[in-house]
Amino acid sequence: MVNQTYAQPMLKENSLKDRVIVVTGGGTGLGKAMAKYFSQLGAKVVIASRKFEVLQNTAEEIEKISGNYVLPVKCDVTDYAQVENLLNQSLQKFGKVNALVNNAAGNFISPTERLSHRAFDIIVNIVLRGTYYSTLAFGKYWIKEKQNAAVLNIVTTYAWTGSAYVVPSAVSKAGVLALTRSLAVEWAKYGIRFNAIAPGPFPTKGAWERLFPGELSKKFDLAKKVPLKRAGEHQELANLAAYLISDYSAYINGEVVTIDGGEWLKGAGQFNLLEMVPSEMWDKIEQMIRSKK
Ligand code: HXC
Ligand code: NAP
Repeated sequence: MVNQTYAQPMLKENSLKDRVIVVTGGGTGLGKAMAKYFSQLGAKVVIASRKFEVLQNTAEEIEKISGNYVLPVKCDVTDYAQVENLLNQSLQKFGKVNALVNNAAGNFISPTERLSHRAFDIIVNIVLRGTYYSTLAFGKYWIKEKQNAAVLNIVTTYAWTGSAYVVPSAVSKAGVLALTRSLAVEWAKYGIRFNAIAPGPFPTKGAWERLFPGELSKKFDLAKKVPLKRAGEHQELANLAAYLISDYSAYINGEVVTIDGGEWLKGAGQFNLLEMVPSEMWDKIEQMIRSKK
């Protein structure tokens, strides 16, 4: 699998040389994959989340691979003071920040009527509030310093379709998408670009433990859900993320790029279920239709 072109690093060496990039939720999963690739491309990376030990281990692991220092910062994005501290620590260490990746998230499956209001709050607070807290704190700094910047928000395809059983997450990701598109216009005058990535299924421990616990992981056959019949490779998402925060994408602003092998469209197209019709049946079907002149 990893020998496939899509699982290989894409951008040329030093594409992000000396850029300072903050990745929330950068200690695990997709955040870690992006942080690692940014660092390999020469960036000075800051990773931030609640579990400092996890961040420290990830920072060390990435440094060994890239040879570039990675700064771990303990930060709960639901607390504005901690987000301001994240900005200040990044500035103290590196003197500037060029890009922010709002990747931190919380999610679990549940019938909505089983949720307490606190369960709803916790997800909205991490995903939506956390994203606008970080965006606001970093945005104010960029505007004051007259510094160009790029923001990348990690959403989901149900940001626009909605989805049963993950309602707090769907509500929040829809808000993050609206934030992306709104500020892409409003803050373009300050040289700040906003884009989003909507990943399909990219197996990570964090997501799979909460979305496909136990037997559910066997019941959800990804090969059947995704037209391209596979899950995503972390590197292909990292490739896209590196491009969207680099200057190579300087004219892309307010876009959401879906990277899901066609998954959400498969669920949307009214006649997509005809995929199940065996090819030998099509002669008979055609005959029946033609006979109705
Ligand atoms: C119902 C639940 C629950 C569950 C927690 N709660 N789990 N309610 N069903 N399974 C309730 C609790 O009872 C409590 O409400 C409230 O939610 C807060 O729970 P805590 O455990 O105190 O919160 P906390 O320790 O802060 O943990 C937050 C968390 C946790 C979101 C619940 O899962 C977490 O830390 N997640 C971070 C990582 C993550 O979720 N990664 C997946 C992202 S995947 P009460 O009323 O009892 O006080 C993703 C992918 C989308 O977004 C698309 C994939 C294809
Ligand atoms: P993950 O490994 O669980 O990542 C979530 C990260 O968010 C963790 O590192 C967690 O670290 C951090 N986090 C949670 N609450 C936080 C808080 N209050 N403050 C700061 N950080 C917090 O899951 P993932 O699959 O890599 O998800 C990454 C992103 O991709 C998310 O935005 C998710 O919605 C999106 N996504 C994933 C998939 C997929 O298939 N994997 C599909 C669509 C979208 P701490 O616990 O240390 O705080």
